[in-house]
Amino acid sequence: MMKIAVAGTGYVGLVAGVCFAEVGHEVTCVDVDEMKIESMKSGRSPIYERDLEELMKKNYVEGRLHYTTDYANAYRNAEAIFIGVGTPEQADGSANLSYIATVARQIAENVENDCLVVVKSTVPVGTNDKVEQFIKDFIVHDVKIEVASNPEFLAQGTAVHDTLHAARVIIGTESKEAEDKMLKIYEPFHLPIVSVKRRSAEMIKYASNDFLALKISYMNDIANLCEMVGADIEDVAKGMSFDDRIGNRFLNAGIGFGGSCFPKDTKALEYLARQHGYELKTVKAAIEVNKKQKTVLFRKASNRLITFSGLKVAVLGLTFKPGTDDLREAPSLENIPLLLEAGAKIYAYDPVGIENFRKRYPEHITYVNNPQEALTDANVCFIFTEWAEIKNVQPMEYKNWMRTALVYDGRNIYPSKDMEKAGVEYYSIGR
Ligand code: UDX
Repeated sequence: MMKIAVAGTGYVGLVAGVCFAEVGHEVTCVDVDEMKIESMKSGRSPIYERDLEELMKKNYVEGRLHYTTDYANAYRNAEAIFIGVGTPEQADGSANLSYIATVARQIAENVENDCLVVVKSTVPVGTNDKVEQFIKDFIVHDVKIEVASNPEFLAQGTAVHDTLHAARVIIGTESKEAEDKMLKIYEPFHLPIVSVKRRSAEMIKYASNDFLALKISYMNDIANLCEMVGADIEDVAKGMSFDDRIGNRFLNAGIGFGGSCFPKDTKALEYLARQHGYELKTVKAAIEVNKKQKTVLFRKASNRLITFSGLKVAVLGLTFKPGTDDLREAPSLENIPLLLEAGAKIYAYDPVGIENFRKRYPEHITYVNNPQEALTDANVCFIFTEWAEIKNVQPMEYKNWMRTALVYDGRNIYPSKDMEKAGVEYYSIGR
């Protein structure tokens, strides 16, 4: 078993650290945030993620998992250091690598043994080469450092499961030694491993995510056309899905993709291409379609109603998808400002996202504890997230609870005919 340090306790770092401990490695998770570290020691996860707290507690108690702000100590004798810090998007679409650089420098100044540094954060192709050079430039002790790429493919809400049962593990290395070490780290997971050079590994991450983003934007594009020509996107998707060259997942049309990966990774790859003087037309189209898709229902509703001013608007779902409290690039964040500006009185429900949303919008929105409170006497309802708690609302309940049963569903939760039968004026995507 190996002595591993993990830099950063966000989604990528924490989940990786906990899963490494779970398969038997000795893991120290490092973060600069003292409060976060203390709270993790007492078993609390800083993110809402199924199974995570349970595994945190178990591995902490069994002594394989440690948390610290003392990076010098954590890096000093580590056999491998995983970097899982954020690479936030900058205004021009490029990735901000300053957190990576900070960690790289701390590693260079503190490691006292030969060590493999593994970049898990999503970084532009070529970054691993630069990180290795950067560490070599600042190295203090006479030790051998190699950098490996190991991109992360976890989806929020299923992060632990996605890590322990990943479809594949991608490792990118430049030497046999580094490759062997990575294989050893992942051996106890018993997962398919694709071992390539570093730059290919970095590219696999972007190419995979952007392909999925493209798939979604493609379905949204087709959905919009379906509405115009009288076809039903659900039936179209079903018909397509039997072709295993297409596959049956990620064909759900809706109100656009959000989250921490697809929006950022599409823009980053497009930016990278632009830097090389290449126009990445497909990915560019995926970005454009997605941007427009986020407000498609607001535009529809604006056409249907004379005004939103003074209307009670029920918003069901704030997070970018179910199973997470994450609001990054969520459709709610695009639509709620438009609704507020148009004078709507918003009553918002989300099973876990309210706390985070309230931080951004402490005023002007009434947050409620269940869908019924939001819907009672509402003039119009928008559905932005397909939480089970929202899917459980029956068509007749919209009819009974709302003042005007007018529903705009961005997640195609209900069969149109069920809503029609209940007397609900129902608009969804691509049907
Ligand atoms: C995604 C990738 O799945 C993961 O492999 C990668 O590492 C990070 O990005 P995540 O953002 O957590 O994970 O969620 P995912 O379930 O993939 O959904 C992303 C967005 O696409 C959500 O907003 C979701 O609503 C939307 N989506 C997904 C659709 O609109 N239609 C679909 O068919 C699937």
